[in-house]
Amino acid sequence: MENLVSNTSIAIDILRDDGAFVFHHPPKFIWERDSDSNNEPRNWYKYHFYLHVPFCRKICNFCTFERKQIRKGSIEWFSKLLDSEMNIYLQRDHFQEANIESVYLGGGTASLLGNDVIDHIILRLRQGFGLKKGNIEITLETEPGTKSLSDFEQIRKSGVNRISIGAQAFDDQQLKWLNRSHSVRQTLNTILAAKRAGFKNLHLDIMFGLPGQTMDQWKDTVQRTIELEPTHVSAYPLIVFPDELLDRSLKRNSLPSRPTSEKINAMREYVNEQLHGAGLFAYSTAEFARPGFECKYVKSTWDSSDYLGMGPGAYSRNGHILWENSVVHPNYEKKIIAGDKPIGKRHAMSPEDQLRRDIAMGLCLLEVDVNALVQKSGATFGGQFSKNCEELVSLGLISWKDSKICLTKKGIRYATYIMKLFTNR
Ligand SMILES: C[S@@+](CC[C@H](N)C(=O)[O-])C[C@H]1O[C@@H](n2cnc3c(N)ncnc32)[C@H](O)[C@@H]1O
Ligand code: SF4
Repeated sequence: MENLVSNTSIAIDILRDDGAFVFHHPPKFIWERDSDSNNEPRNWYKYHFYLHVPFCRKICNFCTFERKQIRKGSIEWFSKLLDSEMNIYLQRDHFQEANIESVYLGGGTASLLGNDVIDHIILRLRQGFGLKKGNIEITLETEPGTKSLSDFEQIRKSGVNRISIGAQAFDDQQLKWLNRSHSVRQTLNTILAAKRAGFKNLHLDIMFGLPGQTMDQWKDTVQRTIELEPTHVSAYPLIVFPDELLDRSLKRNSLPSRPTSEKINAMREYVNEQLHGAGLFAYSTAEFARPGFECKYVKSTWDSSDYLGMGPGAYSRNGHILWENSVVHPNYEKKIIAGDKPIGKRHAMSPEDQLRRDIAMGLCLLEVDVNALVQKSGATFGGQFSKNCEELVSLGLISWKDSKICLTKKGIRYATYIMKLFTNR
């Protein structure tokens, strides 16, 4: 791997490009557990709504999102508790001036929810949480093989207007190695069904750097993705989390090894080039969209917006307060039954930490306006921030003009490293 930093004072000697993103700052191990402030009333104005459905038909070996194997009764259990969680928020928080800017039903596997449950959730968001009529983005994350044409027709009537499909790869062998629960045929059928039902805003997830994946296989996945004419593509470099299922299988050699870092970078460049050529432009380090189809919810998770998450393990942000719902299902249930917000961990950011987070995570959207973030946080953009920027400019990883910091092409490859530098980790 390149050693780009030997002549600088940056306290790291090898740049990592393993995509092991900083998902949160400050890190979760310093967040407070069971804080007395969990139930503090909060005011909601402009915000985004996220639902986390923590069940899947099969557990993919690469995934560390909060998810459990679905069992009989799981969805009923979840739907009932969700209804109570919504009641608790309506009782404790203020939604009089609330305005939901996007809704994302994700997980886990949100498409395991019945159409009636999806309809009910959207209705409740309209009745009490500030979801207005009009063209507000409402996404259903859909695992291939979980929704049919008539399902899509029904949920469209309920107000869902965007479908995100986890295609991952157009190669059955690779899907099998990832322990996916669907075939390529099922992916294609699901995409076709969504289109036939009239969905115009279609998002596909694909991944590169998979075990045994060759450049030719990746090229095939990218070309087939383009032929399907999505409005949005997320092309993720596979992250292998230490000691998780995939990592253990790779170490045991029960899966073929992954491409080298250089090959993975060539894969990134290929998808970038091809999607741009097809009219899908990068608006984040991994997201591409036709103009006007950038996902508002995805952007909100990086751009310092407020968002309210419900369901086990869902994250929320309200100003400088961050929290995560309990990931332990019995604890999530217990808190709701007691009439409390089912929060597991919470953190009140200092102005400096807020600025660090908003710059680092904001760079996932390729560009941040430092002045705006300074104003929002109340912190100052002091000596260390400027020093970091100067060094990153000298390494060719960012450009810095007036108050705008932008990742360069090389910077996108090393985004993880840059984020870590800004978050001081
Ligand atoms: C949480 S999943 C939910 C989607 C849905 N359950 C499915 O799998 O079709 C959202 C997306 O995150 C991506 N993802 C999950 N784990 C990842 C990892 N370790 N590395 C890269 N991308 C990952 C996958 O592309 C996946 O489609
Ligand atoms: S189906 Fe989606 S959420 Fe579930 S384990 Fe697989 S990638 Fe993760």
